[in-house]
Amino acid sequence: MTRANSLDAFWMPFTNNRGFKEQPRLFVGAKDMHYVTPDGRKVLDATAGLWCVNAGHGRERIVEAIRRQAGELDFAPTFQLAHPLAFEFANRIAAMAPEGLDQVFFCNSGSEAVDSALKIALAYQRAVGQGTRTRLIGRERGYHGVGFGGISVGGIVGNRRWFGPLLPGTDHLRHTYDPAGPRFVNGQPQDGADLADDLERLVALHGAETIAAVIVEPVAGSTGVLVPPVGYLERLREITRRHGILLIFDEVITAFGRLGAATAAEHFGVTPDLITIAKGLTNAAVPMGAVLVSGDIYKAVTEGAAPGIELFHGYTYSAHPLACAAGMATQEIYAEEGLFERARSLSDYFGDAAHALRGARHVIDIRNLGLVAGIELEPRAGAPGARAMAVFHRCFDEGLLIRVTGDIIALSPPLILEKAHIDEMMDKIADVLAKVD
Ligand SMILES: Cc1ncc(COP(=O)(O)O)c(C=O)c1O
Repeated sequence: MTRANSLDAFWMPFTNNRGFKEQPRLFVGAKDMHYVTPDGRKVLDATAGLWCVNAGHGRERIVEAIRRQAGELDFAPTFQLAHPLAFEFANRIAAMAPEGLDQVFFCNSGSEAVDSALKIALAYQRAVGQGTRTRLIGRERGYHGVGFGGISVGGIVGNRRWFGPLLPGTDHLRHTYDPAGPRFVNGQPQDGADLADDLERLVALHGAETIAAVIVEPVAGSTGVLVPPVGYLERLREITRRHGILLIFDEVITAFGRLGAATAAEHFGVTPDLITIAKGLTNAAVPMGAVLVSGDIYKAVTEGAAPGIELFHGYTYSAHPLACAAGMATQEIYAEEGLFERARSLSDYFGDAAHALRGARHVIDIRNLGLVAGIELEPRAGAPGARAMAVFHRCFDEGLLIRVTGDIIALSPPLILEKAHIDEMMDKIADVLAKVD
C-alpha cells in the first residue's frame, strides 16, 4: 500500500527516480531569488526554476491576478466560444512580438507550442498549394520539448532513441558548436556563419519542394548553451526565404528578457515566420505556451479554407483564463520594472563573472549571452554527466540551485537579480568545483 506521504507514486519526469527517492530534494516555498526547503534553508535560484521564473518567485501581483480570475471565471472553452481576456492577452503578446508576427495561438507548454508550430507550418504549405512540402528540419543538439513532433526535429539522442521511428521525413542541420574551435568565447563566436549553409546540403539532398520548415533555438539552451556565430541566423533566414521554407525560432527559453530583449529575434534583428514561446510567458505561475505566427500565414490558412473551422488543432486549455490572468500580470511586471533592460544592463557583469571561472578545477569551456551561461566540465572517465551531477548535489546542499545537462552547468537566473547574487553564484560554484572530484 502506498502511504499518503510516501514518495512512491509520483513517477518524476527527467529524473533518476531511484536516486532521488533515496535522497530527496524538496522545495516548499519560494520568494524572489530564493527557494525554501522543508527544513527552512534558503536556496539561491540560479536557474529561474527551469529557465522560466523570469520575474522572480512569489510575485504578489501575479498571485492576486490568479486568485481574482479563479473567483470570476474559472474556465471557458475557446472552441467556437471565448472570453475577453484571451483576446486582450493575445493583443498584448502580439504587441511585444517582432513586426509582422501578429497572431497568437495559445497552448499549455513549450512542447505543445512546438508541435503547434510544426502543424501550422504544414497547414500553411498546403494552403498555398505547396502540399509536397511535408519535411521538417531541426538541428543536432536541438531541444524542442517532448512531443513526437518536438523529439523528431530535436537532436538530443537520449530523448529520441527509446521512442521508435518518430515522424517520417525529418532531417537535421549540423549544430553550431565546434569542439575544435575557440573556447571561452564571451558572447557570440565570430566564426561559423557558414554552418547555416548546411541547409543547402539538405535542400540538395531532399529538394526544396519537400521541405516545409526549419526549426532552431536561436541560442540552444538545454543542450548546454550554444550561442550562434555572428551572421549564422541571418544566413539561415536568407536561405530559408530563398527556398520558400518557413523559419521557426523556438524561443521557449530565449523570449521574455533572457537576452535583454522581448525575443531573441529582436535581439539578433532576424525575424522568423513563427516563434514558439512558453515559460516566461506567465512567469511559470500557470502553465502556458503559445506560437507567434505571421499575419501572412494566418491569412493563407484561414482564407484558403472552406467555410467553417480553418485549422483542426487546439487544446481544451488553450487561452485558459487563469493562464491569461497570470500572463497579463507578468507582462505588466516586465514592462513596469524594465526587466528586459535590466537583463541587458547586467549581461556584461554576468558574462564576465562566469568567465572568471576559467581556470577553476574541471572547467573546459564557458559560453554565454545575455543572462544565460554554460560552464562545461571535463567529464569523469567512463562516467559522462556524473561530475556535473555531483556538482549539482553539492551546490544544492550549499544553498545554490543550478541546472546541469550532461557535464555542463547552465545558469539562467531570474532577471530581478542583483550583482551580489551573481557574485554569490559564481563564488559558490568555484568553491564546489574545488571540492568535487
Ligand atoms: C527550446 C525549448 N523548446 C521547448 C521546450 C519544452 O517546453 P515544456 O517543457 O514546457 O514542454 C523547452 C523546455 O525547456 C525548450 O527549452
